[in-house]
This record gives sequence, structure tokens and C-alpha cells, in this order.
Amino acid sequence: MSRQVIVIMGSPRKGRTLKVVKQFEQELQRMGEVDFQYIFLRDMQLESCRGCELCLAKGEQFCPLKDDRDNIYDRLMAADGTIFATPVYSLQVTALLKNLLDRFAYVFHRPCFFHKTSMAIVTQGVIGGDKVVEYLNELAAYWGYKVCPGLFLTVPWEKPLPGEEEKMNTAIKAAAARFHKLLTDPAPYIPTLKQVIIFRAVQSVHAVEAGLASDRQYYQARGWLTADYYYPTRINWAKKLIGKFIGHQVRRQSLQAKAARGSAPQ
Ligand SMILES: Cc1cc2nc3c(=O)[nH]c(=O)nc-3n(C[C@H](O)[C@H](O)[C@H](O)COP(=O)(O)O)c2cc1C
Repeated sequence: MSRQVIVIMGSPRKGRTLKVVKQFEQELQRMGEVDFQYIFLRDMQLESCRGCELCLAKGEQFCPLKDDRDNIYDRLMAADGTIFATPVYSLQVTALLKNLLDRFAYVFHRPCFFHKTSMAIVTQGVIGGDKVVEYLNELAAYWGYKVCPGLFLTVPWEKPLPGEEEKMNTAIKAAAARFHKLLTDPAPYIPTLKQVIIFRAVQSVHAVEAGLASDRQYYQARGWLTADYYYPTRINWAKKLIGKFIGHQVRRQSLQAKAARGSAPQ
């Protein structure tokens, strides 16, 4: 069965990061049929987030910017996997990629990329790649992805020395192998304790508060106000218990806050 993978290319040029991703693609193609597509953010029409918060508060359809955001969203939704590729710029992702992440901020509130695999591929000159990978891993987990540990490489400006090249090839091969494994794994991803706790805490807030109506409706429509997690999966008893306990605490605090505002629930 062919899998579809979308690369979000955050570099403003077709340079070292693209070269690494192309090599990663070749390695992946060796392991099975994969349809690889590239979204070059530099070629997309994607305006800067204005910070109006309408996407968060009312729903993403209220965003005043009409550009390629939904087109990118649809392509990510149709794919089985996403590669977030970026060079390190001033210890962070590029502005092109950061803008996309900000334009998708509503996905933090209403996660949707479940059962899809993500991976970060980052190149650096000297420093910062590890933190950027960590950042993209965390972000993708909030968005619902099954996160495959990312890859960062120091790519020299000059032609790499033989030893350096071999080291890079080995790292790219290993990254492709772990991405392929997760991409083709049919078992539902098992969330970490942190993910279970976050789910329970947000669930408890929405069960009590009507403040963020679009989030609450989103949770309600998916049965998440009473579920153990976003989707059926194996969660061991300890995670369940801790998650429920924290959910209970958050619910209690939310009720107290609501009562203090003079609108105690029935
Ligand atoms: C504006 C700018 C900022 C950069 N900041 C960093 C940095 O903070 N740390 C680092 O190690 N390399 C930094 N670099 C180097 C690039 O991350 C590195 O050369 C990368 O491999 C370039 O990828 P590309 O060819 O796909 O653009 C920077 C480069 C540019 C142009």
C-alpha cells in the first residue's frame, strides 16, 4: 500500500535542507512505496498572522486572511505523514515555517492529525538544531501526530570531509528507517502520561466552561468530553488513574472559578 508523505519545506531556498530531505526520500523509497510531495512555503501565499485570535475563539473559518492556509491544511489531512523541514535560523525555525505554525495555532485547541506520522528534519551551521527538533516534536504531538524522533544535522558550507559525509548518510538512513516503521505501524499510538494529563485537563475545562464555544463544540461532537483519550488506544491503569485525578482537580478549580464569577453551574 502506497503511503503519502508531505514535506513542509521551511527554507527560503533550495539548499542544504532540501538536499538532506531528498536523500531521506530516497532512503524511504527503498523501504516501500511512498508518494512524496513538497510544499515549498516560499512559493505559497501565506500572510502573516494578525493576532486577532478569531481562529482560537470562534473557529478557523473566521480568519480574515484568505490565502493558501486551508489548501495546506487539506494536503496535510490527506497525507499519512508530514516532514517539517527547516534550517536553523537564529536558534529557531525559519520565519516562513513559524508563520505557518502560527496560522495553524487553532490546531493546538482542536487537534486533528491523529494516526498520522510526523518528523522534523533540521539542518544547522553550528548550533540550535537539537532545540528546534525538540520544539517541532512537541508542537506536532499537540497537533495529534504520532511523533517520530527528529533528525538534525550539521551541514558544512564547504564539501564535507569523507568521515563527515559518512556520518550524515548513516544518520539519514537511520531516520528514514524509524520514520518508515512508525508510518507503516497499524497499531494506534499509545500516548505518554503527559499527553493523557493534557487531554484530561482540557476535557475538564470544556466540561465546565462555555467560554471557548468552538473548542467545546469540537470536543462534544467527537465524544471527547467523556472519553479516556482522543481515540481508542491502550492506556495503562497508572496513566488512567493519574489522568483522572488531575482532570478531577482541574474540574474542581474550573467550577470554583466559575462560581466566583457569579455563574455557578446547575
Ligand atoms: C538568517 C540565518 C540564520 C542562521 N542562524 C543559524 C543558527 O542560529 N544556528 C546555526 O547553527 N546555523 C544558522 N544558520 C545556518 C543555517 O542553518 C545552515 O547553513 C543551514 O544548513 C542552511 O540550510 P538551507 O541551505 O536549506 O538554507 C543561519 C543561516 C541564516 C541564513
